[in-house]
Amino acid sequence: MQTTSMHGMWSSRLAFIFAATGSAVGLGNIWRFPYTAGEYGGGAFVLVYLLCVAAIGVPIMIAEIMLGRRGRQSPINSMRALAEQAGASRAWQLLGWMGILSGFLILSFYSVIAGWTLAYVFRAGAGLFEGIDGAASEAIFSALVADPERLLAWHTVFMVLVVMVVARGVASGLEMAVRVLMPTLFLLLVVMVLYASQAGDFAAGLSYLFTPDFGELRANAGDAILSAMGQAFFSLSLGMGAIMIYGSYLSSHASIGGNVAIIAGMDTLVALLAGLAIFPIVFAQGLEPSSGPGLIFQTLPVAFGQMPFGAFFGVLFFLLLAFAAWTSAISLLEPMVAYLVENKGFSRVRAALLAGVAVWLLGIACLLSLNAWAGFTVFGKGILDLFDYLTANVLLPLGGIFIAIFAGWVLDETVSRDELSATNGAVLYRIWRGLIRWLAPVCVILVFLNAVGLI
Ligand code: TRP
Repeated sequence: MQTTSMHGMWSSRLAFIFAATGSAVGLGNIWRFPYTAGEYGGGAFVLVYLLCVAAIGVPIMIAEIMLGRRGRQSPINSMRALAEQAGASRAWQLLGWMGILSGFLILSFYSVIAGWTLAYVFRAGAGLFEGIDGAASEAIFSALVADPERLLAWHTVFMVLVVMVVARGVASGLEMAVRVLMPTLFLLLVVMVLYASQAGDFAAGLSYLFTPDFGELRANAGDAILSAMGQAFFSLSLGMGAIMIYGSYLSSHASIGGNVAIIAGMDTLVALLAGLAIFPIVFAQGLEPSSGPGLIFQTLPVAFGQMPFGAFFGVLFFLLLAFAAWTSAISLLEPMVAYLVENKGFSRVRAALLAGVAVWLLGIACLLSLNAWAGFTVFGKGILDLFDYLTANVLLPLGGIFIAIFAGWVLDETVSRDELSATNGAVLYRIWRGLIRWLAPVCVILVFLNAVGLI
């Protein structure tokens, strides 16, 4: 068993927590969670989401980190090696390949949305939001997404930033930035929630998020439950190998379960804070909770436009959000880069450039789907929305099933006991094993079957 990775190692347990939290906390929490919760009616969706995080997300995150640490290579090669050791089929490496595909598709649209965030830094700084109402804010947003050149420019800037870090190696550099900027983003979110509680309709926001209305859910239950589960996978960075490869840089001595509790807890807290900052303003301004991917870009500027020092807070907020997106995007690119380095003998720089350019090209299709190619839809969705839906709701949970089955059924029990430092009769280990063998895969399969109308 290897004890280190050729791509470098985290300098400490804390470095791993920061990097993994940096991966988990991103646009998924602040952009995607509020707009998906809004599309599916709020409370009931949030409740299902929280259940999925606890019962499916946490055990799968433990499994992913464990597999990565045991394999010490890119997800493709780790899965191949672990399958060989367990005497199982080499086909398990397909899990790694599927992860590369998911990462590729996610990053292509993620970078476009991160580009919106960068564009909004400048809009906030220019004082464009001063005194605007909901309608004016919607107009600013529509003007941005209608302009392919601007979208391309910001998408390009963001991809360059991502490639730069990945080319240097994620273990160096990432930690310092995350250590300072993450807590700042967190504090700023708290400020936004406080502001929303004063200026927005806080009671309406609170009850929208936390009073489950199952009537609302039932109208479209299959899709809503699938989306809540997909959001859990997306937000926790699970099912594609991002957390697996971060696990491969973790020292053999660190406790996995304790780290996962912290990472998943922080991730969930940030999503809920984002919801609490946004929905009170949505209701006070008469905006639509279900207005889709533009939701935070249409609501928050109204708040920044009215609050004292709004331009300052606006710049800071969108800057920190872009930063959070950056630390997530790095983890989406890392598995492919590690694979290219291991198997093709590329330097990190060359590998990062190659993967980055490929993602960048696909991102152009995503951004054009918002304007020039708006007429082109598959299942009623444009390319960006399609990639978003397909990855979160299909590919990531599918990856999750395979991770759970591999960790629970294929991997030798002595290996997982060893990795999770379980002594005989350890209760937490036994709970984890039950969840990963039965609950997680069965739940995901039931949600899939339910969504396609088979049950
Ligand atoms: N979790 C990140 C977010 O919420 C996005 C992300 C990073 C991701 N790496 C991932 C999603 C891997 C799925 C899989 O913004």
